[in-house]
Amino acid sequence: MLIGARKGSPLILGVGDNEYILASDAAAIVEHTTRAVYLSDNEMVAVTPDGFHTKTLDNITVTKDLSQIEFSLEQIELDGFPHHMLKEIFEQPKALSTCMGGRIDKRNGKIVLGGIANHLREFTLARHLVLTACGTAFHASLVGEFLFERLARISTETEYASEFRYRNPIIEDGTVVIAVSQSGETADTLAAVEEAKERGATVLGIVNAVGSSIARATDAGVYLHVGPEVGVASTKAFTAQLAVLSMLAIEMGRRRLMSTAEAACYIDELSKIPDKISRILEQSDRIKEIAAANIDRNNWLFLGRGFNYPVALEGALKLKEISYIHAEGLPAAEMKHGPIALINDGMPAVFIATAGPQYDKIMGNIAEVRARGGKIIVVATEGDESIKQHADQFIAIPDAPEILQPMLTVVPLQLLAYHAAVLRGHDVDKPRNLAKSVTVE
Ligand code: AGP
Repeated sequence: MLIGARKGSPLILGVGDNEYILASDAAAIVEHTTRAVYLSDNEMVAVTPDGFHTKTLDNITVTKDLSQIEFSLEQIELDGFPHHMLKEIFEQPKALSTCMGGRIDKRNGKIVLGGIANHLREFTLARHLVLTACGTAFHASLVGEFLFERLARISTETEYASEFRYRNPIIEDGTVVIAVSQSGETADTLAAVEEAKERGATVLGIVNAVGSSIARATDAGVYLHVGPEVGVASTKAFTAQLAVLSMLAIEMGRRRLMSTAEAACYIDELSKIPDKISRILEQSDRIKEIAAANIDRNNWLFLGRGFNYPVALEGALKLKEISYIHAEGLPAAEMKHGPIALINDGMPAVFIATAGPQYDKIMGNIAEVRARGGKIIVVATEGDESIKQHADQFIAIPDAPEILQPMLTVVPLQLLAYHAAVLRGHDVDKPRNLAKSVTVE
């Protein structure tokens, strides 16, 4: 007899032919079977040659459904790429098409999100939104905050799940909490969901892993549907989180104040994002050269404004976690309140300076860094010839409405981090001290 018990971290029982497997993640068992039982917290399973029995830790029998693992072994194989991270970066056009396919109706200017259909009214009438997440999912949530405020005019705050759960948060009537998580197993995010539920909030999930703890704990939600993300550094999940948040914000905006024509325009632009990402990916070799030219530098800055400020945070996180190079991400104007003191000769400063209302402002920030000897790497809009004279290195991205740009501007930063890590000889898929899912506090 083999007994597995779940308390805190995830536990799955794989049910094969004449075999059972206990694991923490479906990816570990899909090679052997696609049938699984997802245990809930405080449940256990006893496996014997005659079968399995599920009970609570208090010894009360519970009946569990057999679930089908929805991804295949091929999806977690490298498919010719040297690393999962690079594979997943290059998968983004396809992943986003799958994520949005069937959900955007270009002809009628509509968005259909089946997972929240029964909660649309609460969501539309919400008076306050709280987005909660960790790490990369937190950066996506920050973009989400800007999207909901801009498109649906609803006050929104984004909070680290680890802070939310302990902060005695104010949840009033009409507060909707949205938890964002790739794995659906992050302990802090799951605890934030439980805390919000206990205080009476409607809680939605934006999750990738089907059947995961957060997906099951939330009242409703939208899956990313981008297949398993194996690389520890989150890439395709981030852009898919942005796609889902954009769809939600457009749909909510349309129900509250946005004209059908405006919604149709955003939906049309959303549908063009996968092709635009493909064009950015073609620059991978050029981005590798930029990484190589700066590979001996141990301190980097990432600066952006508006919708691209969370992308600056994400660019810095990507570089830190896989290349172990110290990097800071900042809203560009914050630089002069302290971090500008860090700038010395040749320090790489990556600016996201795409077309938009804050373009002139960020040009001012570029001049400030340049004057202090910083090396300027610019992510700018294709065709912006004039910015080249202010930049040491230049990466062009296709034009897009300001609100959708993060799905594009983050891609060169993912590639920059990837190439820098490989050039420094690190195993990008297994960075030191990190786990794919942080299932402990
Ligand atoms: C991202 O590259 C990191 N590995 C990490 O910040 C991650 O996004 C965070 O732990 C949250 O994970 P989740 O999306 O699975 O909840």
